[in-house]
Amino acid sequence: MTGLTDSGLTDGFGRKITYLRVSVTDKCNMRCVYCMPEEGVEPRAHDEILRLEEIARVVRVASELGITRVRLTGGEPLVRKGIVDLVKMLASIPGVRDLSMTTNAALLERYAGDLAASGLSRVNISLDTLRPDTYARITRRGSISLVLAGIEAAERAGLRPIKLNVVVLRGVNSDEIEDLAKLTLQHEWDVRFIEFMPFWGNGGAFGPSYVVPVDEIRERVRSLGARPLGRMDAAGYPRERQGGAGPASYMRLPGAAGRVGFISREGDEFCTGCNRIRLTADGALRPCLLSGLAVDLKRPLRSGADDAAVAALIREAVVLKPESGKGCVGPGRPWEVPPLSRIGG
Ligand code: 5AD
Ligand code: SF4
Repeated sequence: MTGLTDSGLTDGFGRKITYLRVSVTDKCNMRCVYCMPEEGVEPRAHDEILRLEEIARVVRVASELGITRVRLTGGEPLVRKGIVDLVKMLASIPGVRDLSMTTNAALLERYAGDLAASGLSRVNISLDTLRPDTYARITRRGSISLVLAGIEAAERAGLRPIKLNVVVLRGVNSDEIEDLAKLTLQHEWDVRFIEFMPFWGNGGAFGPSYVVPVDEIRERVRSLGARPLGRMDAAGYPRERQGGAGPASYMRLPGAAGRVGFISREGDEFCTGCNRIRLTADGALRPCLLSGLAVDLKRPLRSGADDAAVAALIREAVVLKPESGKGCVGPGRPWEVPPLSRIGG
């Protein structure tokens, strides 16, 4: 049986769906070249965006169906008014065992303490470079000192483990792979290299020529002496994902406190173990990052749908989940996917 079973939400390919990513806003205080056009995204009308109570309701019903992990994303979640209240609401849902956030950390120094006190477990922070000028170039308006202060605040607040997300862009920050990986020597962080996905939503500023394939990144880290964690295949690469249920595979540098992770943008590694669905800021459930499939929840939520009806729509989204997003992006078709700021990375 597909959908709701005794053991929770299972899709048509036997994958157990336990992880919900919630985009709380399209807005962002940065304009990363790989994510948004310079002028930002068209702001949505206030009533197009789910209210905090509506988000909390969807998460509660989803948790009753088997969702145990929730991640808040954006845009930038910390620019959403009431974000601390939302964290409080979600953390009090009994089935939500792990509540995390992906943030650019520009506002984290201000919020880390309140977020931790409200029940946030941990944060993933976007940091693509250690050079202030490169940081300003990639984010178009960000200041790296705010991010570094945000990381410190997160550590002080106990938002652990800290994961740093690095999107690698050839010729922009690709010469920093080794330096960024070496941050794990001293810090108990996961530094995760993400293969750049060229999207139409980024304004076309950075196209496919900026992609550094994840195998190339992994090889560079291997030459620093890093070894895969967990089981490995004949070539010495991780055979399975380790640590967390996400699409990352991990290595460790000799004697390092933290780990280095690798996230490819599509394909089997990405899709086989995919356990997630996404709720967009405007109230659609998207079963796959790369496909255009979506189930609208906003209209039903606002026209009196009861919990059973909301649950049925969540199950419908899970049933729609494709086996693989492969083919949705790639040569010739990369521009059909909306920007990540719209669908919550
Ligand atoms: N390619 C890869 N990752 C991206 N992100 C945003 N846009 C892209 C893209 N085009 C990811 C980054 C960032 C998070 C918010 O979304 O990892 O840290
Ligand atoms: Fe904002 Fe994150 Fe997109 Fe950068 S990648 S513009 S920080 S949402």
